[in-house]
Formats: sequence, structure tokens, C-alpha cells
Amino acid sequence: MDNKILPPRRLSTAPMLDWSDRHYRYMARQISRYTWLYSEMINAGAIIYGDKDRFLMRNECENPVALQLGGSEPSDLARAAKAAEEYGYDEVNLNCGCPSPRVQKGAFGACLMNEVGLVADCLRAMQDTVQIDVTVKHRIGVDRQTEYSVVQDFVGTLAAKTSCKTFIVHARNAWLDGLSPKENREVPPLKYDYVYQLKRDFPELEIIINGGITRNDEIAGHLEHVDGVMVGREAYHNPMVMREWDRLFYGGMENHIEYADLVELLFHYSKQQIQAGRGTILRHMVRHYLGLMHGLKGARTWRRMLSDAALLKDNNGELILDAWKEVKKANDWA
Ligand SMILES: Cc1cc2nc3c(=O)[nH]c(=O)nc-3n(C[C@H](O)[C@H](O)[C@H](O)COP(=O)(O)O)c2cc1C
Repeated sequence: MDNKILPPRRLSTAPMLDWSDRHYRYMARQISRYTWLYSEMINAGAIIYGDKDRFLMRNECENPVALQLGGSEPSDLARAAKAAEEYGYDEVNLNCGCPSPRVQKGAFGACLMNEVGLVADCLRAMQDTVQIDVTVKHRIGVDRQTEYSVVQDFVGTLAAKTSCKTFIVHARNAWLDGLSPKENREVPPLKYDYVYQLKRDFPELEIIINGGITRNDEIAGHLEHVDGVMVGREAYHNPMVMREWDRLFYGGMENHIEYADLVELLFHYSKQQIQAGRGTILRHMVRHYLGLMHGLKGARTWRRMLSDAALLKDNNGELILDAWKEVKKANDWA
């Protein structure tokens, strides 16, 4: 870990509860070698008091990989960050952007944007405990705070009070009253110019933009203003969008992965995971593969087969190969 050379965070996949687990991250890593992968948010308390393996287990190939933590108790976060470091994560990221009511009750997530002093205490406690990077993911404001100065003060204060250098900014407000978490990813308007302004005001910080970004030309445009782009839903629903990222954004020379090779890898992975006997079943993995054929003929059949309860019942990874055969047939690929 100490001498590991990590690629820059030019591209990353977002933390997504229930979605960006280790099985999703395994697939994403086969598609892009350099993209940073973020775990779903894990509550610090769950790591300290729960089954560490369950929450922290990862595949060796996943790095560079970050663990996102939820919490607002500095000593708990420090203990959880230590565990993340021991499990081989390259970064811990503190969630200051989640608007869900459950998270608000625990007084963390987006409501931490109103408690920058506490956030600084949390970051410092983690920084004092681990060698790996400690970063923050946040919004541009909470509820009706619409001025740029809100996020400017938030970032400026943390940069002054802690050694945090990396800020991942979901470029919209969180409305804590009246919107569901899903609506909170769609309704408050995106203000990319606020994030660009942060980079101009704090050129020494690494500023990562997030929210509503789906196409490679959009990514390239943002990279003219900020250090990195984080993509969530598109990288989940259309994972093959990542196929070009190494070449386009990291100067990678390797050929991108072919569908057939990826399918083969996923088949072997699923077999090995099921055999490992930790209670992993085929459905836990293939649910993340549904979007893989996005844009191809046969994509619908692929999705239908991989989500068919009767077919999944056998818990046999051959289902992936069978579904792939249908895609090949639909495209007249021998
Ligand atoms: C299903 C789902 C779960 C999410 N869970 C988290 C989470 O655990 N932590 C977090 O910081 N953001 C979470 N988010 C928000 C994403 O990280 C991201 O900020 C948001 O989706 C906007 O990016 P996008 O438009 O590229 O999807 C979640 C988003 C989705 C769709």
C-alpha cells in the first residue's frame, strides 16, 4: 500500500447503495483498468460492530478502490477507516451528500453540510489514523441555500482545517424536506459552473465533478475545467460506456475488452464466487450485468434471461453463457 502508485482520479464510478458492491466493481474493473471505483456507503457503526468481512470484502483486482463511509462520530469513523485500510482500500470517502431520511435521522449524509466544524473533526480523526487518502463527497448546498458561497465556504473551511485535498461534488442541492432520494438525484438543478468555480478558487485542490454526466464527449468537456469526473447511473445501466475510458482519458494503449471475453470472465467469476460458499448466489452477481448489452440487439433477451427467477433458481453460471448465445444469435455473430 505504501509504495503503490495510483492513477489520478480522472474517472470514477460513484458510490451507489445496493449497486456498487464488490460484484459490480469486479465487472467494472474488467472494463476499465484505471477508473477509480467507489463502494456503496457503509455505515461506520456497521463496520465496527458488525461482520467486517461482509462489509469490507473486496476482490484483489479492484484497486484503485475507495470505501465510502457514512457517519458523524469522529472516533467511530476513525476506527472504520482503519479497518478499510487494513482491508486494502486506497481511500476512504466521507458521505456528506446523501439526503435519505434514514441518514438524516442518524445526522449524517447531506445534513453534515450544515456542520462543517464536525466534518472537519471527522476528517481529522480519520487522517490521524490512516495513511490512505481521506476525501469528501458532498452537494453544492442544502435545501434553499442557492448561493455559490455555501459550497465555497464548505470546501474552503475543510481545506483550511484538515489535510483533505480531494472534493467530489455532486453539482446540485440536496433538498432534505419533501423529496425522495431518487428525486434528489433528478429535481434540484445541476450547476456545473459552481464546481468549475471551486477549481478556479482552490486550484491546489483536486475537484471532481458529479451529476447527470453520461457521454464521453461530456466527460472530456468537464475535464477542461476540473480534475476528474465521477459517473454513477450511466456506469451502472450501461457499463460498457467505460470501455473507452482508459484510452480516452488515461492514455491507455491496450485494446478495449470484447464482449465475448468479458462474458467469459464473468462466467468464471460467478462460478468461483458460488463455489467459495459464502452464501453468494448467482443472482447477487448477474443483477449487475443486466445493462451490459445496452444498445445491442438481443439486449432485452439478455436482461430477461438474467432476471428470470426460474432460470436463476439453478444457481448455475452457465446461464450467463446461454444468455450470451442469444445476443450473438440476434446480432448474427457466429
Ligand atoms: C441507487 C443509487 C444509490 C446511491 N447511493 C449513494 C451512496 O451510497 N453514497 C453517495 O454518496 N451517493 C449515492 N448515490 C448518488 C451517486 O453517488 C451520484 O452522486 C448520483 O447518482 C449522481 O450521479 P449520476 O448522475 O452520474 O448518477 C446513489 C445513487 C443511486 C442511483
